[in-house]
Amino acid sequence: MPKTIGILTAGGDSPGLNAAIRAIGKTAARAHDMQVVGFLDGFRGVMENRTVRLEGDALSGILTKGGTILGTSRDKPHRMEVGGQILDMTEAMIDNCSQLGIDALVCLGGGGTQKNAYRLSKAGMPIVTLPKTIDNDVAMTERTFGFDTALAIATEAIDRLHSTAHSHHRIMVVEVMGHNTGWLALGSGIAGGADVVMFPEIPHDVGKVADSLLARKSGGSRFSIVAVSEGSLSVEEAATRAALRERRAAASTPAEKTKGSEALKAFEASRTDSTARISKELQALTGLESRVTILGHVQRGGTPSAVDRLLATRLGAEAAQAVADDDFGIMIASQGGEAVRVPLDQVAGKRRSVPLDHPWIQTARQLGMSLGD
Ligand code: F6P
Repeated sequence: MPKTIGILTAGGDSPGLNAAIRAIGKTAARAHDMQVVGFLDGFRGVMENRTVRLEGDALSGILTKGGTILGTSRDKPHRMEVGGQILDMTEAMIDNCSQLGIDALVCLGGGGTQKNAYRLSKAGMPIVTLPKTIDNDVAMTERTFGFDTALAIATEAIDRLHSTAHSHHRIMVVEVMGHNTGWLALGSGIAGGADVVMFPEIPHDVGKVADSLLARKSGGSRFSIVAVSEGSLSVEEAATRAALRERRAAASTPAEKTKGSEALKAFEASRTDSTARISKELQALTGLESRVTILGHVQRGGTPSAVDRLLATRLGAEAAQAVADDDFGIMIASQGGEAVRVPLDQVAGKRRSVPLDHPWIQTARQLGMSLGD
């Protein structure tokens, strides 16, 4: 009997997802005579038995398309909203797959999806995952697909902000996505020639950023570009978050743990609009006019770059190969230019932050960019 692969895309969409779906489908059919079924809207489609056949025409013309032809959601198998209740649907989903004759599930996603897929894998589902996200923060892979496209979009935005910043002699503060890591802000900040980059791995001091902008002004530069990663924190905020996390970790009763989690949630909620606040503070501290641009979901939209298509295609083909080899509980990672198989327990629940000795940080400092510290 030929095997049947189920594919789902979960979490935020990302350029390159369709290239990966196509590669899995084509490799499965042509190299291994396997069939492929797509589940719609992430893990929810598995629970609700919503599927599409992924063969022939369905795989044609999708390589260059942004988003995901399968749709996506942030639903988690073990905490699924069903009829107004939050239920653990793990077993129900595994049963559904077995009734549909699915031999393996290939899950395309970022950090959250890797965790959810690992849970399903531990519950007995044969799983292979692929790392996709514009944030580039999945552990054990040097690149995630989607990052290269988003990097180019953010860089182009910073390029475009230069001329208007220059004309109006303003500070332009641009917020870049990246969740809790600074890959996208730092990469686009360097590539786009930003003067300051603020990102989560290096807590910032707005006073020091203002000093660097005033130094630019005294040197004759009448405008500045400040790239702010959406997850960046001030020194004080970083200390507060660390203390809250410690308190939650030290909680000895479920009630204390819930209290700890709620305090952390309240802290995160209080950080909305932080880029606007940074802009106002910089304006007040420097006396220079400042404006904010939030790039938002534009960074995730549109056609994938050649680099992302290539990466997604290589990883997708290897995922189909892994299923053919009955090699499960793994993520297909990019390491040293190779598509390699990594056990999911080395990926799930881990985040790949920008290491403080990363060459990009060194380069930024060599160029005299301020990193807010
Ligand atoms: O993980 C990808 C990402 O785009 C992050 O950079 C961002 O924080 C988040 O998703 C936004 O999520 P949503 O699309 O659900 O608003």
